[in-house]
Amino acid sequence: MRAKITGTGFSVPDKILTNADLEKMVETSDEWITARTGIKNRYIASENEYTSMFATRAAENALAMAGIGPEEIDLLIVATVTPDFPFPSTACLVQNNLKAVKAVAFDISAACSGFIYALSIVEKFIKTGASRKALVIGAEVLSKVVDWTDRNTCCLFGDGAGAVVVEAFEGEQGILSTHIHSDGRHWQLLYQPGVGNRNPATQKILDERLAYINMQGNEVFKLAVRGMEEAALEALSANNLSTSDINLFIPHQANRRIIDAIAKRLALNGEQLYTNLENYGNTSSASIPIALDEANRGGRIKEGDILLLDAFGAGLTWSAALIRW
Ligand code: ACO
Repeated sequence: MRAKITGTGFSVPDKILTNADLEKMVETSDEWITARTGIKNRYIASENEYTSMFATRAAENALAMAGIGPEEIDLLIVATVTPDFPFPSTACLVQNNLKAVKAVAFDISAACSGFIYALSIVEKFIKTGASRKALVIGAEVLSKVVDWTDRNTCCLFGDGAGAVVVEAFEGEQGILSTHIHSDGRHWQLLYQPGVGNRNPATQKILDERLAYINMQGNEVFKLAVRGMEEAALEALSANNLSTSDINLFIPHQANRRIIDAIAKRLALNGEQLYTNLENYGNTSSASIPIALDEANRGGRIKEGDILLLDAFGAGLTWSAALIRW
């Protein structure tokens, strides 16, 4: 039994924030952002838009492609670090929006690795027969936890959601393997100090600007390259494949230089690589499913293709998934 992706979808806000817009907000330049990150634009939610809205729309698009109704879904996982509320889970809100009445719904937190973590859970549920039709969603509204006065981080992130329908399938196509890793020793390299149990909502937390993403970019950069290379090679080795067998490599879209460094280490050519961070920025758990849907609808993926998904994020977490489409 294989877990096969049968539908993909994504959703982003209408509003685009360009590098030129950022030049008016902090001391930065289009040249700096483009050269250091590869990002040009990112989508930003309005005040009255939130994670579950984009998650729901992405899921609806994926369900439409798969040609199945929400009432057939028995497992619904949302990967997010920017949930609507601490509780209930965003997955339960999406379940309610979709009327996926039969589904068991829960969130997982693995930052930018979240989508592959969720895919890994779904793969195991399907292989054990505990699920037959599942929805995996990566969804974020990072713009509400970005410090818009901090030039070190505010140019990097964007909002949106991507989703896939995964179904039980007898045959060669589907997820070949998933590989997920964590190392909590480095949790302070990338985290949101408040608002949570350790730093609850007080005026002091807001005044000290602790309710926003805090990142040591340089350190994260180095570990991201190492972790993503390790997970990619592990996935290939587990399936007796080599980098030349990959038809499309879809890495987490955080920074063009991270992606280029990994592509170089894996000796991938431009045709094997999918990037779209220029238009979206880093959307954390949403980045891979957005790219996957874009590539899928854009005709970049053919039946039988070997896809390698690869991510790295806060935690620290890193992960890969190898798929025969
Ligand atoms: N505009 C202009 N100058 C800037 C900006 C900006 N937006 N941001 C930082 N600078 C300055 C810094 O202040 C610093 O100046 P200084 O030397 O006078 O102190 C200088 O540029 C160089 O800063 P570095 O941090 O060394 O720049 P670096 O080349 O490392 O690029 C970046 C910074 C883009 C954040 C990079 O480290 C990076 O991408 N790291 C990975 C971050 C990431 O991808 N995180 C997410 C991955 S995991 C996840 O997705 C959750």
